[in-house]
Amino acid sequence: MLDLRTISQAMTEKMTETLATTSREMITTDAQDELRLKVAAARARGERIGLVPTMGALHAGHMSLVVTARQECDFLVATIFVNPTQFGPSEDFGKYPRPLQADVETCRAAGVDLVYHPPTESMYPDGFATYVVVEGLSNVLEGEYRPGHFRGVATVVVKLLNCVQTDLVYFGRKDYQQQLLIRKVCRELDVPVEIRTCPTVREADGLALSSRNRYLTPAERTTALTLSQSLNLAKKKLIQGQTDVAAVQREMLDFLQSQPGLTLDYAVIAHSETLEVLLSPLPNMIALVAARVGDTRLIDNLPISL
Ligand code: PAJ
Repeated sequence: MLDLRTISQAMTEKMTETLATTSREMITTDAQDELRLKVAAARARGERIGLVPTMGALHAGHMSLVVTARQECDFLVATIFVNPTQFGPSEDFGKYPRPLQADVETCRAAGVDLVYHPPTESMYPDGFATYVVVEGLSNVLEGEYRPGHFRGVATVVVKLLNCVQTDLVYFGRKDYQQQLLIRKVCRELDVPVEIRTCPTVREADGLALSSRNRYLTPAERTTALTLSQSLNLAKKKLIQGQTDVAAVQREMLDFLQSQPGLTLDYAVIAHSETLEVLLSPLPNMIALVAARVGDTRLIDNLPISL
């Protein structure tokens, strides 16, 4: 027989359950144990777990991943960790922006369930010596100009995937080579995760959003626009039927190298999976560019399908 106490207890439980699924409080933690407990609890509730790894200084590019992930997952984790192992000795690790409080609030407003921001010492304790190295793909394009970068990226992403044990993980196409690399790592090391790559978010004038754009002076920002312009130029030529891919690539180079204040690292049209530089067109290509504008290194890319 049901007494009043049993009924009210059942009602309280139902209300708690409803509240938990409709307006969950966001959890913020720097402790791996707590992260693991909360994810395990979500999994026990039958929820689909999603992960958006970031280095913080969140902008609309990052948040587009969060919005997509929010739609596809029940329990959404965002990580904020400026990963020292992916920065070269002369790169901007020290001055990389770290507006943690603002980032946490941005995540809360976007409906993230848990923000994990581990301290560097817990990710890389003294004596840390194990790295994930992807041969070949790590050494071309970005890898050529940033030796060790992809070793750091692959290592930290595998660590985060091991901690979160997520069903889905979200990356931006903005870092095209990075998402290819992570796909290869997960395939070859049997990491059971579904990888989603989301489109590049741009300003109205075409500049790809990046945490590093904040370093640009107004004049440098105008110069930075030539990266996306060079990609669009290549796309237009190829879509118009130009079959000499090397000639299109030369046009990109000439255009970029004529920009004062810009130092070009590379501008290529490549195979969209292997990143091999192309001589003749393929149905699916990727144009990629990297350059320094003043002291700021910027990258961009554009898929081209014929
Ligand atoms: P971060 O540069 O903070 O970027 C986090 C994610 O946001 C990456 O997947 C990146 O491709 C995506 N992103 C950045 N700008 C974007 C834009 N304009 N449009 C769409 N997506 C964009 O990439 C890293 O951090 C790190 O290497 C990380 C994967 C977190 C490992 O440390």
